Amino acid sequence: MQAKARGIGGAPADTIGSMTALRHAPADGTDAVFETNLPLAGRRCGKVRDVYALPASPGTPPRLLVVATDRISAFDVVMPTPVPGKGRLLTEISVGWFRFLRPLGIVPDHFLSSRVDDIPGLAPHDRAMLAGRSMTCRAARVVQVECVARGYLAGSGWQEYQAAGTACGVELPRGLRQCDRLPEPVFTPATKAAEGHDENITFERMCDHVGGDLAARLRDVTLEIYRAASERALARGMILADTKFEFGFALDGGGEPTEELMLVDEVLTPDSSRYWPLAGYAPGRDQPSFDKQYLRNWLLGEAAAGRWRKEPPGPVLPAEVVAQTHARYEEAARLLA
Ligand SMILES: Nc1ncnc2c1ncn2[C@@H]1O[C@H](COP(=O)(O)OP(=O)(O)OP(=O)(O)O)[C@@H](O)[C@H]1O
Ligand SMILES: [Mg+2]
Repeated sequence: MQAKARGIGGAPADTIGSMTALRHAPADGTDAVFETNLPLAGRRCGKVRDVYALPASPGTPPRLLVVATDRISAFDVVMPTPVPGKGRLLTEISVGWFRFLRPLGIVPDHFLSSRVDDIPGLAPHDRAMLAGRSMTCRAARVVQVECVARGYLAGSGWQEYQAAGTACGVELPRGLRQCDRLPEPVFTPATKAAEGHDENITFERMCDHVGGDLAARLRDVTLEIYRAASERALARGMILADTKFEFGFALDGGGEPTEELMLVDEVLTPDSSRYWPLAGYAPGRDQPSFDKQYLRNWLLGEAAAGRWRKEPPGPVLPAEVVAQTHARYEEAARLLA
């Protein structure tokens, strides 16, 4: 996993205590958390989250501490500039969704707590840094397929539809426009690529990877969560165009996977989902969105101008891009609160 921290290592940083504050952090007085280095075992750095193993009591199932940093990635490259506060917004949104979903009883989830005071061995400044941006979770063996549900035609779904009339091999009606609502939400799985971009796969290929029974279960659960979540989002003025879930099998006291399938990772955040404002929604064109589309557009401009080649390291982000991006995440969190 550590090797997957693409682009992180290249950024100039000052180490302050056990967290790393970046030199490129905007000087607006907000604490940006770019990378953590807590005195806990087994750190793994994803593009956005740093994951640690929590001290185990013998015989009890292993727990993880999942820390949402302020890193932001686009085009699979981690930017050298953090978006201060983004990790807290992501955590708030995820936790809100776990609380909404759990009583629906669709599938168990890994979320245990967002409290940090019961984690042993942390200094006060670590606890302050972690507050609001971390979750303790049950550890899982993660199924290596990204479970994507799409209710609208956008992104790679729209690309494939234009080329072949399908999305991940799912046949769609003719004559759909960009961002049109699909007659039924579709399940479009993707591989969890160890390096580089995730790749859409057909349901048949997913069956080959994980077995037909598990694939069917993941598809059904994904679509059921998507339906419930999109209804709630709509009531709050947001279209949930698509979203990605990860699932895993809960580990037992010996660290071995059990049969208990759980929803893991972050859920229904702007990093894992495409949310559009309901007001002003009109198919036939791209929609404004509550995510990093603003950043992506700016990056495309940099690439078009020959200043960036869409590979690490990413360009240093101007304060305006950071502020605009933060504002979009903040608005999503406010609407979903
Ligand atoms: N309960 C859990 N048990 C084990 N691993 C988990 C659990 N929940 C989330 N994870 C993993 O923690 C990591 C979170 O980090 P992050 O989302 O930043 O990674 P990422 O760059 O998206 O990488 P990946 O492609 O592996 O998801 C992911 O690899 C995710 O699969
Ligand atoms: Mg992830």
